[in-house]
This record gives sequence, C-alpha cells and structure tokens, in this order.
Amino acid sequence: MAHLIPENLLEDILGRLDIVEVISGYIQLKKAGRNFKANCPFHHEKTASFMVSAERQIYHCFGCGESGNAFKFLMRHERMEFPEAVEILAKKTGVHLPQWDQPEVARAASLSSQLYKINQLALSFYENNLQSLNSTAASDYLLNRGIRLETIKEFHLGLAGSAWDGLINFLRSKNIPLSLMETAGLVLAKESGGYYDRFRNRIIIPVFNIHGQVIGFGARVTDNSLPKYINSPETPVYVKGRNLFGLNLAKDSIRDLDCVVIVEGYLDFIMPYQEGWKNIVASQGTALTLEQIKLLKRYTHNVVMVYDGDTAGELATMRSLDLLIEEGMHVKIAPLPKDKDPDVIVRQEGIKSLKIKIENALSFFDYKLGILKGRYNVGEAHGKSQIASEMLLTINRFDNAILRGEYIKKLSEDLKISEHYILEELNKLKTKVTDSKLSPSIVQKKLSEINPVEKLLIKFMIEEKELIGKIMQELLPSDFQDARTAKIVQVMHDLVLKGKNIEPNILMNYFNEDDANQLVCETMFMPAILEDEREKAVNDCIARIKVQRLKSKREYLHVQIKSAQNMGDEQRLNSLVQEFHNLIKKGD
Ligand code: CTP
Ligand code: MN
Repeated sequence: MAHLIPENLLEDILGRLDIVEVISGYIQLKKAGRNFKANCPFHHEKTASFMVSAERQIYHCFGCGESGNAFKFLMRHERMEFPEAVEILAKKTGVHLPQWDQPEVARAASLSSQLYKINQLALSFYENNLQSLNSTAASDYLLNRGIRLETIKEFHLGLAGSAWDGLINFLRSKNIPLSLMETAGLVLAKESGGYYDRFRNRIIIPVFNIHGQVIGFGARVTDNSLPKYINSPETPVYVKGRNLFGLNLAKDSIRDLDCVVIVEGYLDFIMPYQEGWKNIVASQGTALTLEQIKLLKRYTHNVVMVYDGDTAGELATMRSLDLLIEEGMHVKIAPLPKDKDPDVIVRQEGIKSLKIKIENALSFFDYKLGILKGRYNVGEAHGKSQIASEMLLTINRFDNAILRGEYIKKLSEDLKISEHYILEELNKLKTKVTDSKLSPSIVQKKLSEINPVEKLLIKFMIEEKELIGKIMQELLPSDFQDARTAKIVQVMHDLVLKGKNIEPNILMNYFNEDDANQLVCETMFMPAILEDEREKAVNDCIARIKVQRLKSKREYLHVQIKSAQNMGDEQRLNSLVQEFHNLIKKGD
C-alpha cells in the first residue's frame, strides 16, 4: 500500500471535492465534450492534450503521460509529498485528519512542514531583533530608504545581529535539532566542528510561497560591503526558480487587473507596493524560469517587465522575453535609464513617474530592435543581417502565424530588407527548431506496449459494476501477463472482496507506481464501447485471455518437459506429460 493514512479518509476527501475545481485553481480548463482540456502544465506544448474528467475525477495528459487524481495533481504541481497534499485537501474539504503518530507518515509529512515551522520561528526571532532597542541603526537604514514602519511589519522585515550563534541559541531553546537548522539553510557547519548562523549583521527579508509560508530568506547589508545580498540556499521547500517574490501578496491584484509588473529586486518590489502599486512580483535578480512563468499564467497573460537599466538587467530581460512569448504571454518592456531601478525611481521621482514608464512600455519588437541597433551597425549589410536574425529568434516563438506575419512585415519595413529574404531566413530557423524539438528534450513517458485486451478489461472492470464480478469469476490477477495490469487487477480483486466500489480516482490511492496510475487514467479516456456490444466485448476479452493463459501454460510445460528429459528425471517427466495432456484436453 502506498502510505499509512487510512483509506477511508482519503476516500472521504476525494468524495467531497471536485478535481475540476482543484485544477482550475492552477490552470485554465476548457470544456471539451464530457471532459475538460488544457495545455499540459507538466510539459511544454502548443495544442491541448491534458484532459480532466469530472465524471471520473482524474486527469491524464496524452502528450507526456502524466496522470492521476487530485492528490497526485497537487503533488506534481506544487511539488508536495503525498501527506502534505492530503493535508491541504483535507482542510479544503473540512475532513478532520487525526494526528498521525505513525513515525513514517510523520517523517514524510513533516520534512516540509517542519521546515516551514523552523523558518517561521527564525522569522519571529529576526523580526523581534529589529524591534528591539539596540537595532536603531538597522531601522534607521530602512526608514532612510523610505520604507515605512507599517511596511516593515507587512513584509515582516527583520534583523540578524552580529553574534555567530544568535539564531542557533534561539532555535535550541525551542528544541530544534541542529541537523534541521542546517537543512533549512539557517546555519552552516564549521570546519573545526560545530555550527554558526548563516545570516549575521544583515537586514532580513523573508521569502514566502504562494500560500504565505516562509520558505527562505534574503539578507542585505546595511552598508556598502559585499556581497550585498546573501540568500537561503536551495532547500526542500525553497527552490528559487519555482517561486516569485511577493506573489503571495500580489496575486489577487494581478488577477483583478489582469496584468503583472515584473521587477528584479526585493526592494524594487517593496517600494512600489508600499505606494499602492500591488500587481507586481520580483524575480530575485535572475531571468525568469519556465516554472515562474507558468505560475504567473494562473493569474494573467499580460506582463510588463521593468528590469534595471544596466547590462545585467538588459540580459535578463532579453532571456525572459523569448520564454514569455513562447508561453503565449503578452509582453511589454518598460526600459529604465542606466543606474536606475524601480526602487530608485519611486524614491527619487515618486510612484507617478514609474506609472508613466509602465504605461508607456514598449512592445517586445520596439524594445529588442532598439537594443540590437545599439549593438550592431544597421548601416552595414552584416549588422543588418545580424539584427534580423536575432529578431527572428524571438518572432519565431509566436505560435500565431498572423502575428509572425505582422512582425516580419514591420521588420522588413524598418530594416529595409525585402520580406522575401526575411521569410527565407525564418524558414531556415523553423527547420532547425523543429529538429531540436524532436530531440529527446521532452521525453515522453509513454507506456510501453500493453496488451490492448488487458487494457480493455481493466476499463470494463472499473466502469461496469455488473461486469466486474463476472470477470473476477473467470480470471485471476495472475492470468494477466503484464505486471502492471496484473497489479491493478489484484488491487481491484481485494477491494471487491472488501465490498468496496471501484472508482478510478480512489483506486489510485493504492498504487505507488506511476505506470499503474497512468494506465488506469489512460483507459478511462479510451472511447466507450456501445452498451449493447459490451457483454460480447467482455466475453471476447475473457476468451482471449484464456487462450493466452493456455498458451503460456503450454509453453511453460514444454520447457519443463525438455529439462526433465535432459536431466533423465523419469518420474517428473511422466507427471509433466500427464499434465500437458490434461491441459490440451481441457483447452479443446
Ligand atoms: N541579488 C542577490 N545577490 C546579490 C545581488 C542581488 O540575490 N549579491 C538579488 C536580490 O534578490 C536583489 C536582486 O538580485 O533584490 C536585484 O539586485 P540589485 O538590483 O542589486 O538589488 P536591489 O534589490 O535593488 O537592492 P538595493 O536597492 O538594496 O541595492
Ligand atoms: Mn535597488
């Protein structure tokens, strides 16, 4: 069995929720016949092959094979362990979970929740430090930067003092083991033995996930020393490329305004937010990742990038652009003067000035063309061709042919190159891109061949309550040749014997293997067999499996007989031959 949480609780939770609603919280689903569909959130694709069945309460992607029930969706999408997904959905449905005391469950459930807890404790320690009397220097620093007291509170800003063991001692007093502090990234091991606080003499900026749990920290010096920031290392709950700073605060506003402003730094978030600009997130100093874009896509498709006006900012913008466009986002860019970032603009010129810059944001086309013209000499053939090829790299990302056509026309007019040549270059690019797409970057985890008869029987057993008894009478789990189908049938047998109904979403709670999940889901989306043909189809399937069973028994006996012959074991040979005859008689 996959875990130790009582099955009836899992069933209770699944019975009370609607998977369509759960998944809709993350991606946009479109009605498609009796099902819903969407572009798969688990692999990159342009046509929707991700299906959700309200009737069956499962999902399945025909592109990458990812499939499962509501628990599995949360585990994959939020990268949670099973017990954590159960906890969240239990809360949502109001199902009371008893305190788990089985050590194994506790351990699995808890690494994440323990880390959240430690981070929360650390946060209270840092916040307290900032409020305590002798930290006026740190508070002054923040206030001088224009951060108001209520903002300090709202963002839970804190202070790490100068001691090497301030946090360690505090967490020790709360009985937190050192190993856990280390896993949380809060302390570091000394070479000479022992540990010390990772963050010292710094303003602390906690990083929250979308649920408002503390997952890590950024820490800034209050002078000009280097490095300016240090951050939590990656931990089981903190993976930088999967999170966007501030999204927990901004998500409602992003959805309401249907637009998000993306900035780079912590303070580039905090200052505009403080001044009432709330549909904003910070990428924490790097180019956006695919996962961050997918996260944003839940709330809006409209993005304005406001990165620092330095080379690093420019590079990060350019890299993010292509990915955003490829993900179907509508992107604009508000370039800032060199040496300025959103925080500086708000402080020096006020939020209005930033607002005007955002309103006047450039299209990707004008932005990128401007940058390229600064890099290459547009007056020369070489420069022109360089500019054109780099523009095409981005234009090529648009899924929509009309948009591509429009941009090519604009490019042709701007660079005074015939559209004909530009299209020729684009076509070269296209073949290259398709080639690389065929290469195994997206490895499809298609189920390797499973006997279609066995597949169909599984579908019948799950869908036809009247038929399962009949099938069970005629066939044993071991009659199924494929280990995966045999395992599924075994579980169904056990459930039926316990007097339980077979529901695909519940069945899944019994499998650890992805293959079994995937198989169940795939069969559920297979076309239904007409009602008056079902009985015959089932009989045919049973007959076929019996033939198959007979054949493999014969083969088995054949091998055994040969080996008995070779060994000269008369007695065994006789009994095997007898068995063989019986089998043939029965089979005919
Ligand atoms: N950053 C980092 N480590 C560094 C420098 C920067 O992690 N050594 C990240 C931080 O998330 C920072 C962002 O990159 O917020 C942007 O960097 P920068 O523009 O230098 O920082 P600001 O937030 O603008 O900081 P400040 O205004 O205080 O100088
Ligand atoms: Mn700054």
